[in-house]
Amino acid sequence: MDKRKILIQIDTDVLPSVFDRVVAIDAGADEVFSYGGVRPEQVQALVHGAIFTRGPKDLKSTAIFIGGSDVTAAERLLAEAAKALLPQFGLRVSLMLDANGANTTAAAAVRAAARHLELNGAAALVLGGTGPVGQRAALLLAGAGAVVRIGSRQQSRAAVVADTLRARVKDARLEPVATGTTEELHRALEGRTLVIAAGAAGAVLLPASARATCPGLKVAIDLNAVPPLGIEGVGPMDRGADHGGVVSYGALGVGDTKMKLHKAAVARLFERNDQVLDAEQIFELAQAMP
Ligand SMILES: NC(=O)c1ccc[n+]([C@@H]2O[C@H](COP(=O)([O-])OP(=O)(O)OC[C@H]3O[C@@H](n4cnc5c(N)ncnc54)[C@H](OP(=O)(O)O)[C@@H]3O)[C@@H](O)[C@H]2O)c1
Repeated sequence: MDKRKILIQIDTDVLPSVFDRVVAIDAGADEVFSYGGVRPEQVQALVHGAIFTRGPKDLKSTAIFIGGSDVTAAERLLAEAAKALLPQFGLRVSLMLDANGANTTAAAAVRAAARHLELNGAAALVLGGTGPVGQRAALLLAGAGAVVRIGSRQQSRAAVVADTLRARVKDARLEPVATGTTEELHRALEGRTLVIAAGAAGAVLLPASARATCPGLKVAIDLNAVPPLGIEGVGPMDRGADHGGVVSYGALGVGDTKMKLHKAAVARLFERNDQVLDAEQIFELAQAMP
């Protein structure tokens, strides 16, 4: 008989995410052990607690989830966790990173876009591209071959993200762009067929007045559910709605897929003990979902 499923939640925030704990239980974890404010130098001991307690054949029933509001800090924890595993002895557990829901949200958004557009070669703009979700959306789009503009109110911030992504995605076609002024936003929108707005909650990133500058827009996806919404004219519940020829998704329309994906990914952790679920793997899982 399989052992009880234990998810070890390692969170960079002092208070481990309640959201992630609830989803873990709903995804089938029997127990969630939560650790908050975790620093890289503390990860090895946590991982050793996970891998030295059950024999290799039972380690698929233990898994580690890394979260928190700082994705870069969470990435460091993931790297430390991977280093602390002992695969040569079969002593490893599956790992998942979904800091701030960035991977599952971005994967759900890009999956939605892929249902309406060939991503390879698509001209995309990610507004709010410097945040956790925006960075992951840009990463997945670039990985799928899209030509991606990363938008930020400060071009220099977008440039840092573009450099980081280039190191991860071979031959990525990325262009950091400023979107802080009306003129900058209009330039950023020129020629775009896909816009994903991943700006902060309650910030309008794409006002209706700017839409005329991208007549070729085919798909618009807004991830901000807090009014005022990120893309004027896209409703929060939109899920493939047609607004003047633009296929539109709102935050709640994407959120349904995000929730299913988050649960599917956690459930997947308990199938084997050798998986690392980061953006790319979670996107693969999203594409395989009905
Ligand atoms: N639908 C879902 O299931 C789901 C799940 C998770 C998150 N979300 C939503 O997804 C969005 C992105 O999340 P996140 O955590 O990545 O966001 P975030 O870090 O709070 O913000 C993303 C970016 O927005 C820009 N920004 C901040 N304040 C702004 C303002 N007043 N005006 C214009 N731009 C501003 C910033 O970029 P610059 O400073 O570089 O311009 C920031 O890096 C949020 O709206 C969040 O609520 C949705």
